[in-house]
Amino acid sequence: MTETGYPELDALRPRLAAIATLDNDGLEAEHTAVLGRKAGILTGASKQIPTLPPAERRGYGAAVNQLKVAFEAAFAARRAALAEEARRARAAQVDRTMPARRRWIGGYHPVTAVIDEISDIFRGLGFAIAVGPEVESEWYNFHALNFPPDHPAMDLHDTLYVDAPPVPGERGGRQLMRTHTSPVQIRELLAHAPPIRAIMPGMVYRNDPFDPSHAPAFQQIEGLAVDEGISFVDLKATLAHFVQRFFGAGTEIRFRPSYFPFTEPSAEVDVECQLCHGSGCPACKGTGWMEILGSGMVHPAVLENCGLDAERYTGFAFGMGPARIAMLRYGVTDIRHLYEGDMRFLAHLAS
Ligand code: PHE
Repeated sequence: MTETGYPELDALRPRLAAIATLDNDGLEAEHTAVLGRKAGILTGASKQIPTLPPAERRGYGAAVNQLKVAFEAAFAARRAALAEEARRARAAQVDRTMPARRRWIGGYHPVTAVIDEISDIFRGLGFAIAVGPEVESEWYNFHALNFPPDHPAMDLHDTLYVDAPPVPGERGGRQLMRTHTSPVQIRELLAHAPPIRAIMPGMVYRNDPFDPSHAPAFQQIEGLAVDEGISFVDLKATLAHFVQRFFGAGTEIRFRPSYFPFTEPSAEVDVECQLCHGSGCPACKGTGWMEILGSGMVHPAVLENCGLDAERYTGFAFGMGPARIAMLRYGVTDIRHLYEGDMRFLAHLAS
């Protein structure tokens, strides 16, 4: 801008140039000083115009207006520049001590890893993998498995019944959440002619409290082999092989007589305690042994219930809880740690 010829106006020019250097407070103070409604220098100059001799009014008025426009533009530009500076300063405030955001990498739940490992071992022995429904009828879950009609397991106390209609075309009774994977044995026996070799992993449900040794929902793995000429020797050899593969060669194993309605004879299998290796500790209650599964020769009544000739066919079955096995393997003393989904715990065991 050129000189105006009015000293009081020309005196403002260095101040106009200095606006670009002001901070926020200085900027507001200068705005009030120059353009303030009451005492602003240029506001005062405008008010002078009508008092001037007519010949001077036009030139002076034009000079005042030009300056006003120039100051307003300079204030606006400086305000925008300061706002931008502030924005950049905020964006640049990086806390270099802040921990990096953790990237979760997917892993297998320890129980899933155990199921996969067990499945692989039996796949290597020629077993197929089969699954069945979690909502079953009493017939598949109990009756076909030779439970007597008044067996206590069928009590409301132990079994979760479901208010659902029977599945059309299936053997019925009340609907329930399966309490074990053994009904999948029945489905396999009905669906396929022997030879049958299958393992059947899945979720099972019981009307149990959630405490250190019980979960109302947990996994099981069922095993079934039915053919001509299968004997208890096959059962023992198969499970002994499994234990050596899963827990390590040389792991001690023992069979204890037991009872299940659907196997006869029945046996529970113990392995040497994985924590004390047999010398006795609190985890194995001093016995040196830990139970890992139930098993037995398929009861002839079960085969007959599925339309098979029990004179011709025999078989063995077993069932285990992979969460219990994961607990033995990893020394977990409370099953809830495996089933509560707390990543702080599970991440240590995930594979
Ligand atoms: N179904 C039994 C249970 O839930 C386990 C089992 C399966 C036992 C097969 C023998 C044979 O305890």
